[in-house]
Amino acid sequence: MRSAVEMSHLFLRNVLHSQAVCVDATLGHGKDSQFFLDQGCRQVIAFEIQEDVLLETVQRIGDSRLEAHCQGHETMEEVLTQEVDAMIFNFGYCPHADSKIKTSWSTSLVAVQKGLQMLRKKGRMALVFYPHAQGQMEAERIESYLSTLDSQDYWVIAFHPLNQRAVPYLVGVEKRKETSC
Ligand SMILES: C[S@@+](CC[C@H](N)C(=O)[O-])C[C@H]1O[C@@H](n2cnc3c(N)ncnc32)[C@H](O)[C@@H]1O
Repeated sequence: MRSAVEMSHLFLRNVLHSQAVCVDATLGHGKDSQFFLDQGCRQVIAFEIQEDVLLETVQRIGDSRLEAHCQGHETMEEVLTQEVDAMIFNFGYCPHADSKIKTSWSTSLVAVQKGLQMLRKKGRMALVFYPHAQGQMEAERIESYLSTLDSQDYWVIAFHPLNQRAVPYLVGVEKRKETSC
Protein backbone atom coordinates (compact mmCIF):
# COMPACT_ATOMS: atom_id res chain seq x y z
CA MET A 1 0.00 0.00 0.00
CA ARG A 2 1.43 3.40 -0.95
CA SER A 3 0.88 6.73 0.80
CA ALA A 4 -0.88 9.61 -0.93
CA VAL A 5 2.49 11.36 -1.33
CA GLU A 6 4.03 8.27 -2.94
CA MET A 7 0.98 8.03 -5.21
CA SER A 8 1.44 11.70 -6.18
CA HIS A 9 5.03 11.03 -7.18
CA LEU A 10 4.00 8.00 -9.22
CA PHE A 11 1.35 10.12 -10.95
CA LEU A 12 3.88 12.83 -11.87
CA ARG A 13 6.76 10.56 -12.82
CA ASN A 14 5.51 9.94 -16.36
CA VAL A 15 5.86 13.61 -17.34
CA LEU A 16 9.34 14.16 -15.89
CA HIS A 17 12.48 14.29 -18.01
CA SER A 18 15.83 16.05 -18.14
CA GLN A 19 14.35 19.29 -19.52
CA ALA A 20 11.30 19.33 -17.27
CA VAL A 21 10.40 22.46 -15.32
CA CYS A 22 8.58 21.58 -12.11
CA VAL A 23 6.79 23.56 -9.44
CA ASP A 24 6.62 22.60 -5.78
CA ALA A 25 3.86 24.92 -4.59
CA THR A 26 4.35 24.00 -0.91
CA LEU A 27 8.07 23.45 -0.28
CA GLY A 28 8.00 22.65 3.45
CA HIS A 29 10.78 20.19 4.21
CA GLY A 30 11.29 19.62 0.51
CA LYS A 31 10.36 15.97 -0.01
CA ASP A 32 8.52 16.81 -3.22
CA SER A 33 11.29 19.09 -4.51
CA GLN A 34 13.82 16.36 -3.73
CA PHE A 35 11.70 13.91 -5.70
CA PHE A 36 11.75 16.19 -8.76
CA LEU A 37 15.51 16.67 -8.43
CA ASP A 38 16.09 12.94 -8.05
CA GLN A 39 14.22 12.42 -11.33
CA GLY A 40 16.85 14.58 -13.07
CA CYS A 41 14.56 17.53 -13.86
CA ARG A 42 16.10 20.73 -15.20
CA GLN A 43 14.58 23.17 -12.72
CA VAL A 44 12.38 23.12 -9.63
CA ILE A 45 10.63 26.34 -8.68
CA ALA A 46 9.26 26.23 -5.14
CA PHE A 47 7.07 28.41 -2.95
CA GLU A 48 6.99 28.60 0.83
CA ILE A 49 5.71 31.34 3.15
CA GLN A 50 7.82 30.37 6.19
CA GLU A 51 11.26 31.85 5.65
CA ASP A 52 13.01 29.73 8.29
CA VAL A 53 11.56 26.52 6.83
CA LEU A 54 12.55 27.62 3.31
CA LEU A 55 16.13 28.50 4.25
CA GLU A 56 16.66 25.27 6.16
CA THR A 57 15.28 23.19 3.28
CA VAL A 58 17.23 24.99 0.55
CA GLN A 59 20.45 24.70 2.52
CA ARG A 60 19.92 21.02 3.30
CA ILE A 61 19.07 20.10 -0.29
CA GLY A 62 21.94 22.18 -1.67
CA ASP A 63 21.07 21.87 -5.34
CA SER A 64 21.33 24.85 -7.69
CA ARG A 65 18.39 23.54 -9.75
CA LEU A 66 16.09 24.39 -6.81
CA GLU A 67 14.87 27.99 -6.95
CA ALA A 68 12.79 28.75 -3.86
CA HIS A 69 10.65 31.84 -3.36
CA CYS A 70 9.47 33.08 -0.01
CA GLN A 71 6.02 34.10 -1.16
CA GLY A 72 2.57 32.60 -1.40
CA HIS A 73 1.88 30.21 -4.26
CA GLU A 74 -1.16 32.36 -5.10
CA THR A 75 1.32 34.86 -6.57
CA MET A 76 3.15 32.28 -8.68
CA GLU A 77 2.61 34.19 -11.93
CA GLU A 78 5.08 36.83 -10.66
CA VAL A 79 7.83 34.22 -10.91
CA LEU A 80 6.79 31.70 -13.53
CA THR A 81 7.74 32.83 -17.00
CA GLN A 82 7.64 29.46 -18.71
CA GLU A 83 5.25 26.56 -19.10
CA VAL A 84 5.45 23.89 -16.46
CA ASP A 85 5.63 20.12 -16.89
CA ALA A 86 4.62 19.12 -13.38
CA MET A 87 3.27 20.86 -10.32
CA ILE A 88 2.56 19.58 -6.83
CA PHE A 89 0.50 20.92 -3.94
CA ASN A 90 0.90 19.21 -0.60
CA PHE A 91 -1.70 20.99 1.50
CA GLY A 92 -1.85 21.51 5.24
CA TYR A 93 0.91 22.37 7.68
CA CYS A 94 4.56 21.46 7.83
CA PRO A 95 5.39 18.71 10.35
CA HIS A 96 7.88 19.88 13.02
CA ALA A 97 7.14 23.53 12.22
CA ASP A 98 4.39 25.91 13.35
CA SER A 99 1.18 23.91 12.84
CA LYS A 100 -0.84 27.13 12.92
CA ILE A 101 0.74 28.12 9.60
CA LYS A 102 -1.01 26.09 6.99
CA THR A 103 -2.50 26.40 3.56
CA SER A 104 -5.93 28.01 3.36
CA TRP A 105 -8.62 27.22 0.86
CA SER A 106 -9.01 30.69 -0.67
CA THR A 107 -5.35 31.21 -1.56
CA SER A 108 -4.93 27.55 -2.46
CA LEU A 109 -7.82 27.76 -4.91
CA VAL A 110 -6.31 30.83 -6.60
CA ALA A 111 -2.97 29.05 -6.85
CA VAL A 112 -4.51 25.92 -8.36
CA GLN A 113 -6.33 28.04 -10.96
CA LYS A 114 -3.13 29.89 -11.85
CA GLY A 115 -1.15 26.67 -11.84
CA LEU A 116 -3.47 25.06 -14.37
CA GLN A 117 -2.91 27.99 -16.69
CA MET A 118 0.87 27.50 -16.42
CA LEU A 119 0.80 23.76 -17.22
CA ARG A 120 1.96 22.73 -20.66
CA LYS A 121 -0.17 20.39 -22.77
CA LYS A 122 0.14 16.91 -21.22
CA GLY A 123 1.52 18.53 -18.07
CA ARG A 124 0.29 17.18 -14.75
CA MET A 125 -0.70 18.61 -11.40
CA ALA A 126 -0.85 16.53 -8.21
CA LEU A 127 -2.82 17.70 -5.18
CA VAL A 128 -2.49 15.91 -1.85
CA PHE A 129 -5.35 16.71 0.51
CA TYR A 130 -5.52 16.15 4.24
CA PRO A 131 -9.25 16.05 5.02
CA HIS A 132 -9.02 16.62 8.79
CA ALA A 133 -11.13 19.38 10.34
CA GLN A 134 -9.21 22.32 8.86
CA GLY A 135 -8.40 20.63 5.58
CA GLN A 136 -11.96 19.57 4.83
CA MET A 137 -13.08 22.94 3.46
CA GLU A 138 -9.93 23.24 1.33
CA ALA A 139 -10.49 19.80 -0.18
CA GLU A 140 -14.17 20.47 -0.83
CA ARG A 141 -13.71 23.88 -2.44
CA ILE A 142 -10.87 22.82 -4.70
CA GLU A 143 -12.50 19.54 -5.69
CA SER A 144 -15.67 21.41 -6.43
CA TYR A 145 -13.77 23.77 -8.74
CA LEU A 146 -11.88 20.94 -10.45
CA SER A 147 -15.09 19.05 -11.09
CA THR A 148 -16.31 21.98 -13.23
CA LEU A 149 -13.36 21.82 -15.63
CA ASP A 150 -14.21 20.84 -19.18
CA SER A 151 -13.24 17.22 -19.71
CA GLN A 152 -12.05 18.11 -23.23
CA ASP A 153 -9.42 20.33 -21.61
CA TYR A 154 -8.49 18.50 -18.41
CA TRP A 155 -8.52 14.95 -17.14
CA VAL A 156 -9.21 15.00 -13.38
CA ILE A 157 -9.02 11.91 -11.21
CA ALA A 158 -9.20 11.20 -7.46
CA PHE A 159 -7.33 8.36 -5.76
CA HIS A 160 -9.40 7.81 -2.63
CA PRO A 161 -9.39 4.89 -0.21
CA LEU A 162 -12.97 3.64 -0.15
CA ASN A 163 -12.70 1.90 3.19
CA GLN A 164 -10.97 4.61 5.28
CA ARG A 165 -12.16 8.05 6.31
CA ALA A 166 -10.22 11.27 6.81
CA VAL A 167 -6.94 9.96 5.43
CA PRO A 168 -4.77 11.88 2.96
CA TYR A 169 -5.63 11.34 -0.68
CA LEU A 170 -4.51 12.40 -4.12
CA VAL A 171 -6.27 14.29 -6.87
CA GLY A 172 -4.45 14.32 -10.21
CA VAL A 173 -5.01 16.60 -13.19
CA GLU A 174 -3.62 16.29 -16.70
CA LYS A 175 -3.98 19.11 -19.20
CA ARG A 176 -5.25 17.87 -22.53
CA LYS A 177 -5.12 20.96 -24.71
CA GLU A 178 -3.31 24.27 -25.03
CA THR A 179 -5.93 26.26 -23.20
CA SER A 180 -6.46 28.38 -20.12
CA CYS A 181 -8.90 27.35 -17.40
C1 LIG B 1 2.18 19.92 4.13
S1 LIG B 1 3.44 21.15 4.10
C2 LIG B 1 4.36 20.76 2.64
C3 LIG B 1 5.18 19.52 2.74
C4 LIG B 1 6.34 19.53 1.80
N1 LIG B 1 5.94 19.42 0.41
C5 LIG B 1 7.37 18.49 2.16
O1 LIG B 1 7.66 17.64 1.34
O2 LIG B 1 7.89 18.56 3.26
C6 LIG B 1 2.60 22.62 3.55
C7 LIG B 1 3.51 23.83 3.47
O3 LIG B 1 2.82 24.85 2.76
C8 LIG B 1 3.25 26.09 3.28
N2 LIG B 1 2.29 27.12 2.88
C9 LIG B 1 1.15 27.51 3.50
N3 LIG B 1 0.53 28.46 2.79
C10 LIG B 1 1.28 28.68 1.67
C11 LIG B 1 1.16 29.55 0.55
N4 LIG B 1 0.13 30.38 0.42
N5 LIG B 1 2.12 29.49 -0.40
C12 LIG B 1 3.18 28.65 -0.27
N6 LIG B 1 3.35 27.80 0.77
C13 LIG B 1 2.41 27.82 1.74
C14 LIG B 1 3.34 25.86 4.76
O4 LIG B 1 4.16 26.80 5.39
C15 LIG B 1 3.89 24.43 4.82
O5 LIG B 1 5.28 24.43 4.95
